[in-house]
Amino acid sequence: MAAAPGRRLPAALLCAALCLGAALAVDRSNFKTCEQSGFCRRQRGLSPGQSPYRALLESLQLGPDAARIQLINEATKVPLLLELWGLQGNMTRIRIKELNPLRPRFEVPDVLVAEPPVERLAVTGRDEGSLELSLGPAGHRLLVTEKPFRMDLLQGRELLCSVNARGLLFFEHLRQRRDSDTPREPTAEEGAAAEGQDEAAGGAEEAGDQSEKPTETTAEAAEEPGSWEETFKTHTDTKPNGPTSVGLDFSLPGFEHVYGIPEHAESLRLRTTEGGDPYRLYNLDVFQYELYNPMALYGSVPLLLAHSARRTLGIFWLNAAETWVDISSNTAGKTLFGKLLDYMQGGGETPQTDVRWMSESGIIDVFLLLGPAPAAVMGQYAALTGTQALPPLFALGYHQSRWNYNDEEDVAAVEKGFEEHAVPCDVLWLDIEHADGKRYFTWDPSKFPRPRAMLEQLAAKKRKMVSIVDPHIKVDSGYRVHAELRSRGFYVKTKDGSDYEGWCWPGSAAYPDFTNPEMRAWWASMFAYDQYEGSTETLFTWNDMNEPSVFSGPEVTMHKDAVHYGGWEHRDVHNLYGLYVQMATAEGQIQRSGGQHRPFVLSRAFFAGSQRYGAVWTGDNTAEWEHLKISIPMCLSFGLAGLAFCGADVGGFFKNPDAELLVRWYQAGALQPFFRAHAHMDTARREPWLFGEDNVALIRGAVRLRYALLPFWYTAFYHSHRHGLPIMRPLWMEYPEDTTTFAIDDQYLIDRALLVHPVTEQGARGVQVYLPGKGEVWYDTVSYQKHHAPQMLYVPVTMSSGPMFQRGGTVVPRQERVRRSTECMQGDPFTLYVALSPQGTAEGDLFLDDGKSFDYETKARFLHRQFTFAGNTLTARYPPPP
Ligand SMILES: *[C@@H]1O[C@H](CO)[C@@H](O)[C@H](O)[C@H]1NC(C)=O
Repeated sequence: MAAAPGRRLPAALLCAALCLGAALAVDRSNFKTCEQSGFCRRQRGLSPGQSPYRALLESLQLGPDAARIQLINEATKVPLLLELWGLQGNMTRIRIKELNPLRPRFEVPDVLVAEPPVERLAVTGRDEGSLELSLGPAGHRLLVTEKPFRMDLLQGRELLCSVNARGLLFFEHLRQRRDSDTPREPTAEEGAAAEGQDEAAGGAEEAGDQSEKPTETTAEAAEEPGSWEETFKTHTDTKPNGPTSVGLDFSLPGFEHVYGIPEHAESLRLRTTEGGDPYRLYNLDVFQYELYNPMALYGSVPLLLAHSARRTLGIFWLNAAETWVDISSNTAGKTLFGKLLDYMQGGGETPQTDVRWMSESGIIDVFLLLGPAPAAVMGQYAALTGTQALPPLFALGYHQSRWNYNDEEDVAAVEKGFEEHAVPCDVLWLDIEHADGKRYFTWDPSKFPRPRAMLEQLAAKKRKMVSIVDPHIKVDSGYRVHAELRSRGFYVKTKDGSDYEGWCWPGSAAYPDFTNPEMRAWWASMFAYDQYEGSTETLFTWNDMNEPSVFSGPEVTMHKDAVHYGGWEHRDVHNLYGLYVQMATAEGQIQRSGGQHRPFVLSRAFFAGSQRYGAVWTGDNTAEWEHLKISIPMCLSFGLAGLAFCGADVGGFFKNPDAELLVRWYQAGALQPFFRAHAHMDTARREPWLFGEDNVALIRGAVRLRYALLPFWYTAFYHSHRHGLPIMRPLWMEYPEDTTTFAIDDQYLIDRALLVHPVTEQGARGVQVYLPGKGEVWYDTVSYQKHHAPQMLYVPVTMSSGPMFQRGGTVVPRQERVRRSTECMQGDPFTLYVALSPQGTAEGDLFLDDGKSFDYETKARFLHRQFTFAGNTLTARYPPPP
């Protein structure tokens, strides 16, 4: 749930504002623009032009794995170290850091699943001003130009990507403060902390023998005010390390379409940012977010994809600090006619997109994912950051949430409602009010006096529960969780070394330092049944507010000069915090089962790699048609960034949906990987049966369709878990050469077999559906009518229908006996829907296991069957090994 819009706004006031309902929107003044963010302003202040950097080609060191070359800024004479790797599977890694930093700079740990295997590099060409390296067997070559420094990545004669071609490499090296203030000597503690830093960063410092100490006396351009201290609203950011930002540009010739870098409330295809703010990546609790703008939201994945009919390419910028991304294009603003004219006159430039990344601290560490197919790029990203964890089966069912189900009687009554109205439901959720005074891991003694009995009653109906466990911990010496965290020194610290405290739901709260592995181990141990009293194996977890949200902090989050494990500033690790919360929580659930059972944890904040720990959702949306509509591109963007298990609050979190919107939202939500209804405390109750017989029947229909398709969904999750492909897939991922699909984001594929176009317009009588694939056919899943592709098809709709088509040539498994929950359906028969291709063939598969343990992995206890239909015969066999 969202933070209050202002500081310390009492819940009652917040409620009053909501009840008025008029002109509610984000208070933009709470959040920085690029202009208000010192480093973004400085970075953006550098215009394209000649780079001051020169590559010292004679410094080349070609190791068995990496090539290392020094770069020198000819203005400041500060040397940088450029490191280059060719990675197996068509990836290139480029790292730029200071050759002799005054102090270590943060390098992101725990995101890469392993050190990626390398290719052997070779120098294949050299002249006075340039150097050519071959990067592996696929024929990728990197041309390094000495002066001004730039790099061009080629395959054969094709230029794929240029680096620093616009001269925007901007690396603020660490320096001594040299203004009139007395330079502050580091305290003994800080010195010690800095020493521990190498370890914390995974011993990543290996910059070679650093014989020379940094040139501290180097002449600097006059420093901008704000370089060593910055104030936003009432908050001052002391910047003990001064300016530390890094930035770099990438030019992508031949690309006009770019995607990714969630989370933004934005169309699937990203827009150019000229004349506005860059897209911002900085995990924030934004109250009532606005649509179609580049403001930061709850999570961040610094992965951008570029796609053309010829190839797909990814840029993964591994940096966890506040980051801004500028996108520009030489065809932006040109009309189709203008482009056509260029083409006919033969004079038009090649279309090109330029992308510029700017981060507040850390180093430049970037992976170019060279595809060439979209699925290859997803596989490359998955090889680096892991794939979607295979969820327990129940998590694919329907989830009923609200802030709040008030007490045990309320929970029982809601459960009974689902039973009586025959709406399947797997999970009931409890928000913050269930805990005793927002002390997580506890229960309100008067409202939830017998949690175990409540859970057992749900379990008897084969339903589960999720309770919220947020990372802000009530400062209360009588609260065991707080007392232990404090005594073990596990809280994030202020710059002065005391426990960092802020204001959040419980009042005064402190924040466990999830970047500390010991703290995470302790947190995980808290999920043991004897630690989290009243919990059982059917209780799972929701981590909200883990950006982290700090109502009293700058931009509703933590002060950047707060100090974490290893002495790192919050500035360095901000976007990682939420990932660590979910990681530690998931680990706790695994441990409580003795390593047997797969966890389920929902998280609001995320970073690259969060897919390994559970589900994510699009945060606090609003009961408006536009929010329903944008849930599709938002989840598509999450999926492109590896986060396959995505959903949006069905019905909208803020405000009250009318029956039509609610029904349409159920229909759309049932087709998204994570399917949960949720609502703000001040909204009217909206359990499905409160909208009359007709509407509950429509909602029942939507939920039942979800359950009938469970085997298909489960198998789709298995595919994603194995290969890293998104479950909700943009059309272009399956039809990469069809330019019509490139900007479509109101319809998508589930896995590769079902095409859906949810109804997101009020009063809709029909929708236009694009059926892709030259020579392919699609079958309407209700009428079974066959349609030839490609075509734009007008599909009339009623309140009970949303267009869904099965691709000719696929087999979709269903379970048609829908019951009250997923667990009830285990062991029920399957029905295969075989949709023939024009050639009379079809293929598909089915994955099954116990739905909850790791046995599929550790003991190979699963069933995976590949179905083939040909020559009027259906055969089932074991699929070929991956
Ligand atoms: C790498 O690129 C080559 C050439 O473009 C391609 O044939 C090959 O399939 C790619 N490999 C992977 C793992 O994507």
